[in-house]
Amino acid sequence: MIQLKVNGVDRSFDGAPEMPLLWYLRDVLGLTGTKFGCGVSLCGACTVHRNGEALRACITPMSSVAGTDITTIEGITANGFHPVQRAWIEHNVPQCGYCQSGQIMQAIALLRTTPKPTDEQIDEGMAGNICRCGTYQRIRAAIKTAAEEHA
Ligand code: FES
Ligand code: FES
Repeated sequence: MIQLKVNGVDRSFDGAPEMPLLWYLRDVLGLTGTKFGCGVSLCGACTVHRNGEALRACITPMSSVAGTDITTIEGITANGFHPVQRAWIEHNVPQCGYCQSGQIMQAIALLRTTPKPTDEQIDEGMAGNICRCGTYQRIRAAIKTAAEEHA
């Protein structure tokens, strides 16, 4: 039995330990804000947090999240108005939106370790998150706005 916490709620999982965390979140818990893109850690659509750090849920087996604290896009605030989400709205970042949960989760993790990122630090920190709609300029602007708000 694997015990973990998801968005502050204690959970027990007695399925296959090699099952990807992404399947558990989406298919077992119904937390569909976290997306499936490539399935091989190349796009960032499935990004969640494990103990506050960005994690690709598509390649993470349930066995490696035992005893950890997982946060998904649904769990970052109760009302959807985290400073990063507010900045995303202000800059009209999403186009199709598919990649954006992962982008936001990656951006929050980046701002935790680098509260005032330079353009280069943003590019480096967000490099693993692909957007087929090409919203990169808006993402960069929104991260800067969120960083100011944290000040
Ligand atoms: S779906 Fe996980 S990185 Fe692409
Ligand atoms: S907004 Fe469409 S893939 Fe990023």
